[in-house]
Formats: sequence, C-alpha cells, structure tokens
Amino acid sequence: MLTIGLFLTISFLVSVAGLAALIWAISSGQFAFGQRQARVIFHEGEEGELDDPTVSGEAIDRERTAIDASTARPVTLLLVAAVLWLVLGSVFGLIASLKLHMPDWLDGSAALTFGRVRTLHLTLVIYGWLSLAGIATATWITPRLFRTPLRSAGFITWGAMLWNIGLVAGLIAIASGWNDGEEWLEIPWQIDGLLAVGGALTVYPLLRTAFSREVEHIYVSGWYYLAGMMWFPALFIIANIPYVFVGAEQATVNWWFAHNVLGLWLTPLGLGAAYYFIPKIIGKPVYSYALSLLGFWALALFYSQVGIHHLIGGPVPTWVVTLSVVQSVMMFVPVLAVAINQHVVVARNLWAFRASLPLRFVSLGAIMYTLASFEGSLEALRSINTVTHFTQFTIGHAHLGAYGFASFIMFGGVYYMMPRITGRPWPWPGLIAAHFWCVVVGFALYFTALTIGGWLEGEAMLDASRPFSASVILLKPFLEGRSLGGAIMTLGHFLFAINVAAILLPRSASRAAVAA
Ligand code: HEM
Repeated sequence: MLTIGLFLTISFLVSVAGLAALIWAISSGQFAFGQRQARVIFHEGEEGELDDPTVSGEAIDRERTAIDASTARPVTLLLVAAVLWLVLGSVFGLIASLKLHMPDWLDGSAALTFGRVRTLHLTLVIYGWLSLAGIATATWITPRLFRTPLRSAGFITWGAMLWNIGLVAGLIAIASGWNDGEEWLEIPWQIDGLLAVGGALTVYPLLRTAFSREVEHIYVSGWYYLAGMMWFPALFIIANIPYVFVGAEQATVNWWFAHNVLGLWLTPLGLGAAYYFIPKIIGKPVYSYALSLLGFWALALFYSQVGIHHLIGGPVPTWVVTLSVVQSVMMFVPVLAVAINQHVVVARNLWAFRASLPLRFVSLGAIMYTLASFEGSLEALRSINTVTHFTQFTIGHAHLGAYGFASFIMFGGVYYMMPRITGRPWPWPGLIAAHFWCVVVGFALYFTALTIGGWLEGEAMLDASRPFSASVILLKPFLEGRSLGGAIMTLGHFLFAINVAAILLPRSASRAAVAA
C-alpha cells in the first residue's frame, strides 16, 4: 500500500512538474520555431563550411575561445575517467564473453566468476564510460548552445571526483560479492549516495549556465540535456530506495529503472550530442527543426513505461505489461522524427560523411539509434518476445543501443571536442581511422553472431522435442564469434585510449610525434 501510494505521489509530482515545463515552454515562445532557430548553433559565416578539426588541422575555434576555455578542465577530467573505464569495462566484457564458451577458464577465484565479471562489465560501461562521457559532452556543448561560459565549473570537478570514488567503491563491493542483487542496480545502495551527490554537483553548473544564457531560444540538444539531467536522478534515487519494493514489485521497479537508463538517460545524452555534432560538422541545419521537438516530446510522453516489456510472462499484472507493449510500439513516433531529421541531412551531404571521421562515428551512431529502437519496439511484441526472451538476441539488442548508438556518438564527440579543448590537433589521424574500422568490423561481427545465434537459441528452447542442451550446443560457435568481435572492439578501445593520451601530452611531445 505504501509503495503504491509513494509511486502515485511521485508520478503525480513529476507530471505536474512536466506540465509546468510544457506551459512555460509554450508561453515563452519555445514552440514558435522554424529553421531560423535551428541555426542558433552557427555563428556568422559558418554555414556551408565543413567544421572538423581532424580535417582542417585548425584546433582552436576562435569564435568560441572563452566558452571552450571555461569547460576545458572539467570536461578533460570527465573524459579521461570515461576512457579509462571504457578500456577496463571492455576487458571485463571480453573475459565474460570468453567464459561463456570456455567455462573452466579463470575458475579459481570468486571475483572472476561469470556473475561478478559480467556485473563489473555492465557497471563500468554504463556508470563509468557512457554516463561520464555523456556528462562531459553535455558540459561542453551546453555553454556553446547558450553562448555563455560555464558557470560554477568547480562543482563539476568535485562531482566527477565523488562519482568516481563511488564507482570504485561499488566495483570493489561487486568484485567481493556484496551487491544489491538487481540488474543495473548492483552497486550497494549504501554507496549509491556518492553517485547521487556527485551527479547532482555536475548538473548544477549546467542549470546555472542555462539560466544566464545569452540566447533566447533553447536549441533541441539543450532540451534533451536538461530533461535527461532531471529524469536520471529521479530514476536513480527512486529505484535505489531500500526495503520499499519487494518481490514482483521489485522486479517491476528494476526494469522500469533499467530500461529508462537507456531511454531517459543514454538517449537524451546521445541524441543531444548528435543534434549538435551532425549539423555543426556538416555546416547545415537539421532537415526539419519542428520535427525535432515533436521527437523530443514524444520520447518524453511514451518512453517511461517501456521497460516492463522485459517482464512479459512474469508475475506482474497483465495490464502493466500491455501498457508497456503499447508504449514500446508508440516509440516509432519519436524515432521516426529523429531519423528523418538526422539521416536526411547526412544523406544530402555524403561528401561530409566521407571527409569527416567524427561525423562518420556520430551519424553511424544515429543510424544505430534508429535500428535499435525499431528492433526494440518489435521485440516488445509478445509473438517475437516469446522467441527472443532469455536468449543472446537480447544481449545483441542491448549492445546495438548502448554500444552502436550511444558509444559511437561519444567516440565521434571526443574526436571533435578534444582538439578544441587542448588547442592541439590529433597527432596520429591514421590511428583514428584504425579505431573506427576496429569498432565497425568488431561490432558487425558481435551483433550478427548474437542476433542469428540468439534467434536459433530461442527457437530451440521453444521446441519441446529437443533437449535444453541442444540450444546450448548450437549457440557455441556464435558465442565464439561474439568473442572475436568483442576482442576487435576492445582493441579499438585501446587505440582510442592511445589517441586521447597522445593529444593530452605536452605540446612539444605532440609536435615531435607529428614530425616523426
Ligand atoms: C562500450 C562498450 C560496451 C557497452 C556499452 C556494453 C553494454 C552492455 C550491456 C548493456 C549489457 C547487458 C545486456 C543485457 O543484459 O541485456 C552487456 C552485457 C555483456 N557484454 Fe557488453 N558492452 C560493451 C562492450 C562489450 C565488449 C567489448 C564485450 C566483449 C565481448 C562485451 C561483452 C558482454 C557480455 C559477455 C555481456 C553479458 C552477456 C550475458 O549475460 O549473456 N561487451 N554489455
């Protein structure tokens, strides 16, 4: 009773806050937009020019020197941590993958058993890599959108430190067998407070910057960022409240949280970045600015109940699951809006796609957002879910979203931002291309293996005439294919880390490298 009351009260308060935001947006003319507003990201004379520091070699953006200087320190700190966690998280992912077809490998230590290694991988890539890279990108882009230097930047530095301390404590806890026992929420709730306070400290400067902005209109990336910064803390704090949700309720809250991490946290961070980088690099506004705000509001409206499709067949009320299936299918609306907007501008400017590696990363990420979302809507249908549930197909889908979409956009963003942050060009452009091809080839292998293998696994499990072991045996070559793909992706991540380390080296060392 307490739980339902609490839920209803929170939902009511959140809805009222959302309504207030909508009323404010309408009354302050935020909806009176057209292509003119889509151009707020350009300064005079920038339209029609390819803007890519990896191509021009011009590292400093002279129009925005003061703004970029205000974000340089906190963004560098966040990105360095994110890249380190990505490399470590990938190594754990690879170990987990190998253990699925070599179960006797590394079986002497409890910390290296599959359950803990998998959890370390997930925690590292979501809370270490994607969240920190996403916050860094938002911190860098937001002041540019508002043409205002970042306010209270020191808060972000403190927030990043607290977040990382919490993450390290959480990883040690998980490795030693102490966790909350819920997927995506394994860090013990006693430690989660550090991440909550750290996260809040990183949000405050962005809000202050938004309030002191020099431009009237908030560009669509700003909507995604500001909303994501409100949604995620609410999700994280509610889902981590101990001793309130138990049994089937706990599973419901767990999947409400876990899926919303993708839709209301990683999606705003990824789409906010894509909406900035794609038109900015190409030098042309998005296809239809009006459509972009339709996409935003449709996401806000439909996403929050999507996660319960993970519990189809579970002991939760049928109406809750059906509501989730309907909302999952409604997600076609925002996804189509984003797809039309972002893909059309790239398709009309393929010369830019060929010329710019950051654009290639970001626009491929945007394409994978479309694919992951369409696939997710279909997977929510009961007829398809019956085959794919409990199989590796779902893992392939999770990587299409968290890796193909969110991580690719972050890779491209880092390659665009770092020269602007450091004032130095990338020392080894060839290594950026090597990173690109490693992650493209590795991920293609990874995704294809799990999608085909997972579907066959599901069909084998549904076939009453075949023993369960048949589904395990048929899966083995696909799991080996995943390990090969994952190893190539991990190699790409090492190259990425080398690139980031190289551009951060003192100027003389970079120059020597270029000369060599
Ligand atoms: C940025 C990079 C990555 C991200 C964001 C990511 C994300 C994820 C997510 C969200 C899950 C949970 C999937 C689910 O339960 O539905 C997962 C599980 C997993 N990932 Fe990754 N991943 C990344 C890289 C890798 C790499 C390089 C490998 C290497 C092979 C890998 C192997 C695995 C494995 C083996 C699992 C567990 C699968 C299972 O439980 O059957 N991941 N990852």
